[in-house]
Order: sequence, then structure tokens, then C-alpha cells
Amino acid sequence: MRISIIGSGYVGLVSGACFSELGNKVICLDNNAKKISELKKGIIPIYEPGLAEMIKRNVRRKRLSFTSNIKEAIIKSEVIFIAVGTPSMENGEADLTGIENVARNIALNMDSYRLIVEKSTVPVETGNWVRRTISTYIKRKVEFDVASNPEFLKEGQAISDFMHPDRIVIGVESKRAADILVDLYKPLKAPMVVADIKSAELIKHASNAFLATKISFINALSRICDRVGADIKEVSKGMGLDKRIGAGFLQAGIGYGGSCFPKDVDAFIKISEKIGYDFRLLKVVKNINEEQRDFFLKKIRDVLWIVKDKSIGVLGLSFKPNTDDIRQAPSIGIIKALQAEGAKIRAYDPEAMQKAKELLTGVTLCKNPYEVCKGSECLLIVTEWKEFQEMDLCRIKKMLKRHLIIDGRNIFDPQKLRKMGFTYIGIGRPDSE
Ligand code: UDX
Repeated sequence: MRISIIGSGYVGLVSGACFSELGNKVICLDNNAKKISELKKGIIPIYEPGLAEMIKRNVRRKRLSFTSNIKEAIIKSEVIFIAVGTPSMENGEADLTGIENVARNIALNMDSYRLIVEKSTVPVETGNWVRRTISTYIKRKVEFDVASNPEFLKEGQAISDFMHPDRIVIGVESKRAADILVDLYKPLKAPMVVADIKSAELIKHASNAFLATKISFINALSRICDRVGADIKEVSKGMGLDKRIGAGFLQAGIGYGGSCFPKDVDAFIKISEKIGYDFRLLKVVKNINEEQRDFFLKKIRDVLWIVKDKSIGVLGLSFKPNTDDIRQAPSIGIIKALQAEGAKIRAYDPEAMQKAKELLTGVTLCKNPYEVCKGSECLLIVTEWKEFQEMDLCRIKKMLKRHLIIDGRNIFDPQKLRKMGFTYIGIGRPDSE
């Protein structure tokens, strides 16, 4: 199939690369000309395991190309995926300017039947708006279909999520559109949900909101564990083995971040408000998430007493492991709060230091975890990179000024660390206060 992907961000690039890997002819478009010229040279703007190789392979096979010319992308493809950003506006609502703009461009340049598919995460009813916009601006009398096909990929595992999805969700209004998308995804041999467009749009927001709810639930429980001396890890395990609950997204920590959950929860609260439903549950999910960072900061203050002028080591800057993404990363808020109290921060992240530099000032970025510990009063675990779980703890102990680890992701065994002579504080672990 000839496919265009409008928007070469995370979702766009990964989907484009994977569709080409499946044998389709794909054009990835972005209005950022610098990004496109770099992609043409083989420079990939994001860190995602396996993506660079897949892009290079398919460019070589002439199945994947890049352009910033939207007309070319529209004319050359029968299926056009919209994967532009839908960032949060100040009031939490999703900004759909990018989507509208693309819809108008498609209308002006389309010369025969096209299937226009929204892949960006959008509020319910966006599909209707896309159809109306195209009908309003269309120049020639050509047929078209609009469809919704939300993407569920997780950063760091995006390629495997795309190639081996739990399900594929397709929202359509016509058999023609359904047939095209079912055909396109057939090679993945995954269960398909073919629904109407509004239901498909809702499935995406509902899934992310539900996962965020699971995380806030377990984080709320971690507060109870802390108070009574229970272990949140055991509680998660015991709950997760119940198939109706499931083990995923039950890791307590310092709250969810990233480019999706915070934005999608906000947007879903707003959409609900607009249609006259007060989604109180999600408001609490959001509050608990924000409180979880304060809870972590309180643990630091409680043990250090005075934060001012102390050197604090931070391990992990990305919002989760295996990505260089720092959007809405808990690390940023935590570091800024500690700096505001006068702490000196030494930090390390395997991939995210370049991006963190743009958002943080006054942080000493170190070459490795051991450098971070040099002269630090304590070590904070903020992202659960595997590298941190495999550190030489004896060496860490030697480098730290005080043998104190505050583990925001519960990566260590409290007993083992205490036996080694560390003061260990986790989230909802026994005797952690
Ligand atoms: C998420 C959804 O999982 C994906 O389906 C959607 O398409 C995009 O948003 P992503 O943001 O890449 O993916 O990361 P994810 O692995 O879902 O983690 C999100 C956040 O939740 C991270 O900050 C992570 O640290 C946190 N998290 C996750 C927890 O705190 N506990 C958990 O048990 C799981």
C-alpha cells in the first residue's frame, strides 16, 4: 500500500518505519525541514531501540522516504495517517490546530479517493470535525473516508508494541475504509476491534486514563503501606496475580510522567466537562499523581533535615527507562524543587542528559553513577534504568558522603542494602521512614 504519515514525531516515525518494514511504500512528512533533512541523512531525532536500523534498512530498500512537501505526500498515497502533535493547552484541553491544518491541506490537494486516518490521540468527535473540514475545503468532487486508528505504543518498546500489539483498534464509517485498514494490519495477526469512529477515539483515551488510574491507585496504597509498615511490592504482587486485575501498571513510585498520561488525563477531564460530565475519578487520579512527587520530596527533607547547600545525587532523568524523553519527567520537578531549597544537584542518565540540559540549569551532569555519588549526601533513584540495578553498590558506598539511598522506584531490596550498611528509604517499603 502507498501510505503517507503526516507528522514525524514519536508515533509517526515508528508507525512509518514499521509499515515500511511490513512491505508498504511509506512517505513520512514533517513541517520541520531540519528534521526531514537530518532523517534523509540517517540522523534519527529520537532514541528508540531498533528504530534507527529499521529506518535505514527500509530507506535502502526504497520503501521509506521523507519529505516536507505535504502536496507530494498527499498526491502519492492512498492512505494518509495524521500523526501530528496534540499538545495540552493551558486549560488542559488538547490543541487540535495541527490536525485542522492537515485536514485543510488534504482537502486542497486530494485528487482521487483517499482514506484519512487519525493516529494522533484526539478527543472523541475529532473524526467528525476532520470529515467536516475536508468537505468544506475540498476543491474537486472526489470521494474520501475518515477513520480512527489509535496507537498504543510505549516509548522504549515502541517497535515491539507496534509489531506485536495486544489489539488493533479501527474506527470506520464505511466498508471500504474498514477493508483497507484490516488488509493493512493483517500481517500482524493481532485481534482487531472494528468499531465506529467515536468509540475508537474513546478507546484510546479510556485506556490511557485507566492505566493512569491503576498507577495512582497503587501509589495511594504505597502511602498506606508506609504508615503501617507493609510492603507495596508484595501488595502489588498479590493483587496482580488476580487475572481480573492484572500485574501491569501496578508499580508504585514517584508518579507517572511522559508525553501521554499527564496530557491525556487532562484532556479527558476537559472533554468530559465539555459534554456535561464531571469525571471526578480522573481529577483524583491526577491529584494523587502530583502528590506522589511531594511525598518523595518530603522523604528527602525528613531524612536530610536541612537541604540547603547539600549535594544531592540524582540517578535518572528520563520519565522512564529506555528512552531519552524528559517530557513531564518527574525528575525535572524534583530537581527544581530541591534547587529552590538550595541543594546542589549532581545527576546522570544513560540517554537523557542532552535533552535535560535544555530544561535544567545549575545541575552538574556526570559521566556515570559513581561520579554522581562523589561528595553527595544521598543518592536518589528517579528512573529505574537497568544500569542502576546492576551498579557496584560497594563502590557507590565508598563514594557517597553519607550512606543514604532514597529509592523512588523501589529497585533495590531494602534488607540487602541495610545489611550492606546503607540507610535505605523506598516508597511504601517496610521501615522506610
Ligand atoms: C503510554 C501508554 O502505555 C501507551 O499505550 C500510549 O500509547 C502512550 O502512553 P508511555 O508514556 O510511553 O506509554 O509509557 P508507559 O510505559 O505507559 O509509562 C508511563 C508512565 O507511567 C511512566 O512515567 C512510568 O514510569 C509510569 N509507570 C508505569 C508507573 O509509575 N508505574 C507503573 O506500574 C507503570
